[in-house]
Amino acid sequence: MSLTPFQNRFLSRQALGIGLVGWLLPLGLFGLGGCLAKGADQQAAVSLRQLAQERGLLWGTAVQDGQLADQNFSKLLKAQAGLIVPENSLKWDQLQPEHGKFDFSKADGLLDFANNNKMRMRGHVLVWHQQLPAWLGSLNKQDLAMAMQQHINTVVSHYRGKLQSWDVLNEIIAEDGNGLRKSIWLDNLGPQYIDQALLAAHKADPNVPLVINDYGLEGDDPKTARKRATLLSLLKDLRSRGIPLQAVGMQAHLAATPTGPTFNTLPDFLHKLAALNLDVYITELDVNDSQLAAGISGRDKRVADIYEDFLSVVTKDPNVKLVATWGLSDRFSWLNQAFPRSDHLPQRPLPFDMQEQIKPATKSIIKVLSNQK
Ligand code: G3I
Repeated sequence: MSLTPFQNRFLSRQALGIGLVGWLLPLGLFGLGGCLAKGADQQAAVSLRQLAQERGLLWGTAVQDGQLADQNFSKLLKAQAGLIVPENSLKWDQLQPEHGKFDFSKADGLLDFANNNKMRMRGHVLVWHQQLPAWLGSLNKQDLAMAMQQHINTVVSHYRGKLQSWDVLNEIIAEDGNGLRKSIWLDNLGPQYIDQALLAAHKADPNVPLVINDYGLEGDDPKTARKRATLLSLLKDLRSRGIPLQAVGMQAHLAATPTGPTFNTLPDFLHKLAALNLDVYITELDVNDSQLAAGISGRDKRVADIYEDFLSVVTKDPNVKLVATWGLSDRFSWLNQAFPRSDHLPQRPLPFDMQEQIKPATKSIIKVLSNQK
């Protein structure tokens, strides 16, 4: 099994220890002071989907299949999202809980909703180290390789021609940015599992854009710099060998502090991705407020400022084609399970509040989408 120079570099490091409909209500609604008309159905006053579309951006959100039955949320979703991504319904443990037995019902329901509401849907995720069914762990290396090929072929063929893109590989760079993440895939199949996954997806649907998706690529800290360098090295290697890939997904799970994060080095990274002829998707945007003081107005202001800072950078880059938040309403955010606040207050990480109403973050997003041509 000959390894490319890239794979050798990685393995040696690893071994060493890895939605006003074209319209806003008349500008007066927001006015210069940004104040909303009192009592207006504030949610109905805006369409992030439409504002984004006017700038050539696809705007959307992650959705869980159970949320579609919620009338208030579903109304918000139809007005705000031009794209949905199943938050969990296309993951391996949901699609193939038993070896060879596929259940597409939840994801097909989301695709029907998307089609019925003139939205796109993107696929998330074919190969990841999380949310894997137990049966995978009992396979030997050869059967694991076959199972990965069969999963990708079956799933991508099922949705052939129907999805906006596929996250083929998720979070494959090591947490510390040095090399590839150790996982059932790397440990058993070697780094060539990356090629194999992309080639299998391309074979099953030659026209769907293929994406490598990861987090921790947005800020100005040393770990982000390491992770970017490692990813760029991987991407250059894949490009040099003609392995099919069309975009990089930046998850953008941003962690709010009183002074950060900052995005001064982000434009250069975006330019480097463009130089590799790769589109950029912002795939899972939200702003974790668990490190901020409890006061709602203070939290909302800080979160809104971070949305504005980040989106001001990425919407300036013509190579950024898509922005999806990881949820639309604060009512539904993974962050309350994964990063519960120490004061046990619900987080406020998303574009709309717990009552699906406009909040400072919404206004920041509107401001950026309205100003950037
Ligand atoms: O489906 C089971 C249900 O049957 C069971 O009763 C329930 C209670 O344990 O768990 C349900 O599964 C949960 C699943 O979400 C569906 O709700 C899992 O426990 C839970 O761990 C899983 O969390 C998801 C997480 O990925 C898994 O790692 C989050 O909702 C989802 O927002 C999150 O999304 C990931 C992206 O896929 C990749 N990027 C990071 C992002 C946040 O971790």
